[in-house]
Amino acid sequence: MSEQWRAVARVGDIRSGDVIAVDVDGTEMIVGLDGDRYFATQRRCVHSGGDLADGIVSRGHVICPQHGWRFSTLSGQTPEKSLLCLVTYAVRVVGEQIEVDPQPRTGTSS
Ligand code: FES
Repeated sequence: MSEQWRAVARVGDIRSGDVIAVDVDGTEMIVGLDGDRYFATQRRCVHSGGDLADGIVSRGHVICPQHGWRFSTLSGQTPEKSLLCLVTYAVRVVGEQIEVDPQPRTGTSS
């Protein structure tokens, strides 16, 4: 499986603890900064469709604004329901560009 990196933002566009919404080839995602580590997941919460672009980032998790479920920014897993999992995507920084590989890295939702 080959990587197909897409530039989605520039370093400095996302403050630590924040997320932004991006559209990569028609796929809605969020890209966030947790401390000094960027992450990307699907935008819509697997519980009931909450918009994670309005979520909060806290110590390795993104917290859905709708009902407060916490999802690992690495694995997409939530302790609320082990079978529900966000799709996550690989992120890298090249120079001043933040890039996402739109091929799902983890996750089971559609
Ligand atoms: S919609 Fe996200 S926790 Fe319910």
